[in-house]
Amino acid sequence: MKSLKFRNGDQIAQIGLGTWKSKDGLVGEAVKTAVKSGYTHIDCAATYGNEAEIGEALTDLFDAGEINREDIFITSKLWNNAHKKEDVIPALKQTLSDLNLDYLDLYLIHWPVAFKSGLEGMPQSDDDFVSLEDLPIIKTWEAMVEAKKQGLVKHIGVSNFSIKKLKDLMSKTDEHPEMNQVELHPYLHQDELVNFCHENDILVTAFSPLGSQDRIPEMKADNEPSLLENPVVNAIAEKHDVSAAQVLLNFHLQRNCIVIPKSTNAGRIKQNLKTANFDLTQDEMNELKTLDKHFRYVNGKFFETSDGKYENIYDE
Ligand code: A2P
Repeated sequence: MKSLKFRNGDQIAQIGLGTWKSKDGLVGEAVKTAVKSGYTHIDCAATYGNEAEIGEALTDLFDAGEINREDIFITSKLWNNAHKKEDVIPALKQTLSDLNLDYLDLYLIHWPVAFKSGLEGMPQSDDDFVSLEDLPIIKTWEAMVEAKKQGLVKHIGVSNFSIKKLKDLMSKTDEHPEMNQVELHPYLHQDELVNFCHENDILVTAFSPLGSQDRIPEMKADNEPSLLENPVVNAIAEKHDVSAAQVLLNFHLQRNCIVIPKSTNAGRIKQNLKTANFDLTQDEMNELKTLDKHFRYVNGKFFETSDGKYENIYDE
């Protein structure tokens, strides 16, 4: 499997299993299938609500000798309700307990958005949000750095951060984020952001690489474009005798990004890993470039408040 390196030389496989939207009763089996098929990287988050089942699956895999802890890379993410400095390590410890692990390979601040401490579920009113002026990211970050110092996590990073937010954070600390996980696919290239991250030794992970069609209806806009049915993507797939999904995933490997397709279907889990077995040509990458229309499946509107605490969260 192709991999990328962190600043200290640690490696991360470029294809990981995504677990956002993976349902109870299916996600554990998906993780087991993935590991037995050769995945060495699983992307999790507290808010996905399925870390305990993933933890059981990991324990079973370790007990059965299918993989050793040090040979699998596990990411999780700090939810918006635990941004206060004193909330970060307890939230991380809850995730470690759910995943049944002693340490994470990577811990990310999930969103540059803060909720009231301990808020259960999604905010119901503006009062459930705390502004970044009142709860600056640097405070949350200092606790992330502390978690790394304590050996609870090997690497720390962020998710859904713009260049502006990365620059702001980096101006306040010498411990720069090691990863930025953002939405990327042929309809949303974000060249400037990807280049900025790479120039600053920040690895980039692409989420929603297949268009996340299994999102809840409330998260979907009318007439969303389909990535998997795009004719350009399908024509390239035919040339290589691969699936449209494999083209959409390979696109990120060519850009030196990491990609985390979600699936709970054994056939598709295996197919997605085989993405690394071919190379898109420069001409094909150029063709995919023409599809860029700055379209987001995860538009962040669900975090906008009427009092202006959060608007334009991607700073564009
Ligand atoms: P399933 O879990 O039934 O395989 P994303 O990673 O962008 O969030 O997209 C996940 C969605 O894409 C899920 O609906 C998932 O369904 C589907 N999916 C995952 N892998 C493939 C594939 N190789 N071909 C088609 N659809 C896929």
